[in-house]
Amino acid sequence: MARTLAVVGGGVIGLSIARRAALDGWTVQLHCTRERGASWVAGGMLAPHSEGWPGEERLLQLGLESLRLWHTGFLDGLPAEVVTARESLVVAVDRADAADLRTVADWLAAQGHPVEPTTAAREVEPLLAQGIRHGFRATTELAVDNRAVVDALAAHCERLSVRWSGPVAALTEVEADEVVIANGIDAPTLWPGLPVRPVKGEVLRLRWRKGCMPVPQRVIRARVHGRQVYLVPRPDGVVVGATQYEHGRDTAPVVTGVRDLLDDACAVMPALGEYELAEAAAGLRPMTPDGLPIVERLDSHTLVAAGHGRNGFLLAPWTAERIAAELEVSVGAK
Ligand code: GLY
Repeated sequence: MARTLAVVGGGVIGLSIARRAALDGWTVQLHCTRERGASWVAGGMLAPHSEGWPGEERLLQLGLESLRLWHTGFLDGLPAEVVTARESLVVAVDRADAADLRTVADWLAAQGHPVEPTTAAREVEPLLAQGIRHGFRATTELAVDNRAVVDALAAHCERLSVRWSGPVAALTEVEADEVVIANGIDAPTLWPGLPVRPVKGEVLRLRWRKGCMPVPQRVIRARVHGRQVYLVPRPDGVVVGATQYEHGRDTAPVVTGVRDLLDDACAVMPALGEYELAEAAAGLRPMTPDGLPIVERLDSHTLVAAGHGRNGFLLAPWTAERIAAELEVSVGAK
């Protein structure tokens, strides 16, 4: 008889694990709340190069491995339209911003993963503000429509007979041979001591309107006088993100966060000023002290996949593979 797996968490991580386990022959039960979490707010950039920073070598490795999986099979069973961009252009607004980008580009080259520098960024993306010249292209990065991916993974899970039930307050409520804790910032409520904490980020959705300049074709990331902003294409507009600060479990989008994002987005691409401000939201990234996700076995029938920080969508395929490998070991041992 098929062995049973309970996955706690219905975001991109929980769904990816559930789908992979169902494909491997497990009978899977997914426990989740009706509330929308970080996966619903996310920008959906799959961007290990442009999110990279010296000192984060391990995260770069994991991100590159997971991006490879996005390119080589993770999208099987999902509609092609979930992919909304196939390149990132990272640009700098002032000299200090350009120096920051050079630091990242030099570090990536030293790691063996060079990006393509440019001093003619507006030739790549003519909608950029005048005066923006310096940057680099990361040509293998992708962006996905986060909400479409979550919906499509859920639909794929349903086709694979994954069953849904409500959230659990304690692991003792779960009946299964194995359980995976994959509920982001709530993971420590099920396994006290897991070092996962919420880090807030405001994210905006701008909608294209008739007569406006077109939506950019690639992800635009920018350093704007020391702050960072990203513009992620969607079929109907762009997602603008994101602030980053700690404020407990507060998910109210506050005026200063929204204002900074709008100022920076329009400083990079002035034409966005004519778009409709369709949504302002805030998500809570599940962050760990070292910035690395916690994906491991906790005891003989409990595993964890949490703490993906800024990189939940990027690292979902790698996480699903790691958990699948752990589950295979457990099948062999029992
Ligand atoms: N990955 C982008 C963010 O967390 O804002």
